[in-house]
Amino acid sequence: MRVVVAGATGLIGTALLPLLRTRGHHVTALVRDESKAVAADTADTVVADALDPVAVRGALLASRPDVVVHQLTALRQMSAEAFETTARLRTEGTANLIMAAREAGAAKLVVQSISFATAPLGDPVLSEDAPLYLNAPDASWSRTVQAVAEMERLVLGTPDIAGTILRYGTLFGARTQYDPAGPFGAVIRRGQLPIPETAAGVTSFLHVRDAALAALSAVDSDVAGVFNIADDEPAEGATWLPEYARQLGGPPPRPIPSDVAEKVLGWFANYQLTAMRGARTDRARSELGWKPTVSWRHGLTSG
Ligand SMILES: NC(=O)c1ccc[n+]([C@@H]2O[C@H](COP(=O)([O-])OP(=O)(O)OC[C@H]3O[C@@H](n4cnc5c(N)ncnc54)[C@H](OP(=O)(O)O)[C@@H]3O)[C@@H](O)[C@H]2O)c1
Repeated sequence: MRVVVAGATGLIGTALLPLLRTRGHHVTALVRDESKAVAADTADTVVADALDPVAVRGALLASRPDVVVHQLTALRQMSAEAFETTARLRTEGTANLIMAAREAGAAKLVVQSISFATAPLGDPVLSEDAPLYLNAPDASWSRTVQAVAEMERLVLGTPDIAGTILRYGTLFGARTQYDPAGPFGAVIRRGQLPIPETAAGVTSFLHVRDAALAALSAVDSDVAGVFNIADDEPAEGATWLPEYARQLGGPPPRPIPSDVAEKVLGWFANYQLTAMRGARTDRARSELGWKPTVSWRHGLTSG
């Protein structure tokens, strides 16, 4: 098949391109900067900023894909601006890709979403049917979740194109947030990241390569829909954070009272450690035939 990957220069995109080629697909990288075509490591590139509908239309009409894979985020930095740009990529960027994909005659869209946008209600580990946290009390997170919901609605509601949403867990692996050289590494090694006394929030992690393998399965599958994609070991903050500190060679995190934790850690980190829910992946296993190859336990700090 002819496959265009938007976000081809990203962590998941760069892992996905060779997998698609090995399967015999004709792969075109959609890049926003021609000089980055080398990073995409493919002879076929088209250039477009995903937020520019005219450029996206030109790129997809030139490449005539059967499948469009959307791995666009601006999350390399974790700033308010990056979250806002990512929300725009999920709404405007997705709408631009859909319009262009329809015109170019594509039959399928495979789109990156997140599994941890569910509301913190009910079981500690939730399926794809759980409601999203649209009314989260933090403005940045509610904007993120609303953009995720809008993106999913657009993809699943597009006539004539099968939409597959891959709700990825919290990514780990080289160059992610959890890379030992990343933002948490030095802080945790110095014992400067405390843990709330009751850290019962659940994180479902996902290695970058398993995220790419799920996208490969989705491209090759006849099944469409919404799929949680995460490892086999959803873990409470009280479990994974001390183990991550141990893997980094740091001291066990210092407990702090729950009533001051949000102030010390910030809203999202406190939410992740105290209330977030994990993700069930039964549907991806049974319908997409995908399963994780690695768990966070065997190396949250590995490449
Ligand atoms: N799901 C999660 O767990 C989660 C949550 C929060 C943060 N993160 C972090 O996000 C990163 C995830 O990797 P990823 O592969 O999703 O992201 P990534 O490595 O940042 O890749 C994003 C891709 O989107 C492209 N892009 C961004 N804006 C664009 C635009 N306007 N037009 C065209 N292309 C555009 C980038 O191109 P350029 O190369 O030109 O920039 C890049 O190819 C990791 O660092 C991870 O730790 C992940």
